[in-house]
Amino acid sequence: MPSTVILEKTIYTIDQLEEMPLPQLALAGRSNVGKSSLLNKLTGRKNLAKISSTPGKTRSLNFYRVSPEEFYLVDLPGYGYARCSKTEREKWATLINRYLKNNPRLFGVVALLDSRLPPQALDIELITYIRAQGMDVFPVMTKADKCKQPVRSANQVAWQRLLGTEKPPLLISSHSGMNIDKLWQFFLDKFSA
Ligand code: GTP
Ligand code: MG
Repeated sequence: MPSTVILEKTIYTIDQLEEMPLPQLALAGRSNVGKSSLLNKLTGRKNLAKISSTPGKTRSLNFYRVSPEEFYLVDLPGYGYARCSKTEREKWATLINRYLKNNPRLFGVVALLDSRLPPQALDIELITYIRAQGMDVFPVMTKADKCKQPVRSANQVAWQRLLGTEKPPLLISSHSGMNIDKLWQFFLDKFSA
């Protein structure tokens, strides 16, 4: 039976945060890296999560419930978006940090990294922070269709070294569909075990 996905809850402020009843996997990454596009592609629903070529599109925590496996994929606002007020940036950072911290049902974070770029300080900071909370990080490299093979391979190797992982991060593309099935199966396996 194919999975169904519905948007169950949207959270804008810290006081709206509550303990969600199911296990969670969050999608994190810089603004515009392709979090919402990945969510749409994974679930085969073009307009489930709003996407935009302008960074800063997702401004809330969105809990997408996957059934019958029963878990949430959580679309987070992007970080590192410079063109909004400092107050607003701080508000999101606090919200995301609060969500990531002390959340027993959040068992991992998918860190989306731009395959066109070598490791960036902000991404390294996020990954270090998540690991420090004792959570698993699943790195994936986005927009593979936009990047020439030698460049993305070099960036993959650089990330693998930095993260000390057995394998390089999975290269994906929400436009061409590259490795999307593989990633979805990886998630489902985690939750149906
Ligand atoms: P915020 O919500 O601002 O944090 O951004 P986001 O990470 O959710 O990015 P979003 O999915 O909105 O995508 C940003 C832009 O990148 C859009 O113009 C997408 O069409 C484009 N994009 C996303 N994934 C891919 C991809 O795999 N390949 C290409 N070529 N473009 C992509
Ligand atoms: Mg988004």
